Amino acid sequence: MGDVCRYAVVTGANKGIGFETVKQLAKTGVTVVLTARNEKRGMEATSLLNEQGLSNVVFHQLDVQDARSIESLAKFIQTQYGRLDILVNNAGASGVVVDEDVLRALNVDPEDWRVPNEERRKELGDVENLTEDKIDKILQNFLHDLKQDALEVNGWQMMLPAYSISKVSLNAYTRILARKYPKMCINCVHPGYVNTDINWHIGTMPVEEGAEGSVMLALLPDEGPTGCYFDRTVVDEF
Ligand SMILES: NC(=O)c1ccc[n+]([C@@H]2O[C@H](COP(=O)([O-])OP(=O)(O)OC[C@H]3O[C@@H](n4cnc5c(N)ncnc54)[C@H](OP(=O)(O)O)[C@@H]3O)[C@@H](O)[C@H]2O)c1
Repeated sequence: MGDVCRYAVVTGANKGIGFETVKQLAKTGVTVVLTARNEKRGMEATSLLNEQGLSNVVFHQLDVQDARSIESLAKFIQTQYGRLDILVNNAGASGVVVDEDVLRALNVDPEDWRVPNEERRKELGDVENLTEDKIDKILQNFLHDLKQDALEVNGWQMMLPAYSISKVSLNAYTRILARKYPKMCINCVHPGYVNTDINWHIGTMPVEEGAEGSVMLALLPDEGPTGCYFDRTVVDEF
């Protein structure tokens, strides 16, 4: 896009990898809308970056689970900028309350968090035949088994099951979007095992490195890769 001003939205950006992604993107000259579900936390994070000289960072509230909040952000972008060039869909939550000391003692392998059983892996990996309906059905089955206390017996991932299935589904959905909008670059990225609140700070990588993948993908040229999964900055298998 040459020297033309670019506009970005980063979700869940009041802290962690999202906050660092905003910072690194803003440093390249992109106008970044830092979004957060909590107005106070979001405003504070934005002020911090503004005070560091990044006046091209603005705040808007966004709770990614709230349709009205999404609509309000979309209206803001439309009226303020007329378009959006970059969306970093970063917001995430572990979905569990844990005893942090026990978790540290368990010495969890982070790669265990995202592997579903073989059958579901095949279904979600069959990108040619993947549909939103298929993903919805898998999620409905998951919810059903969760309510019946039957996750283990039905072969679901038992390490952070809700987190795991949400990430696998999101990755699959990303591939559907990439197929549907071939002119856009729509990719997934694993940031590495990053030291943030989401893993109770047992992650080993600093956020500065953890944000490198999302920043690189956000700045891809128009003809860049799409429908890919990146392990940090390198293309990998889904
Ligand atoms: N850290 C890692 O090792 C690692 C590894 C793989 C993937 N990831 C992914 O990287 C992303 C960023 O995580 P992080 O490590 O930076 O964790 P983090 O520091 O806990 O940040 C998560 C962010 O998501 C926000 N959020 C949660 N639910 C939201 C909602 N409904 N609407 C809007 N924002 C919401 C949180 O806001 P609040 O402050 O309001 O809670 C927070 O700003 C997540 O998607 C995570 O799954 C991280």
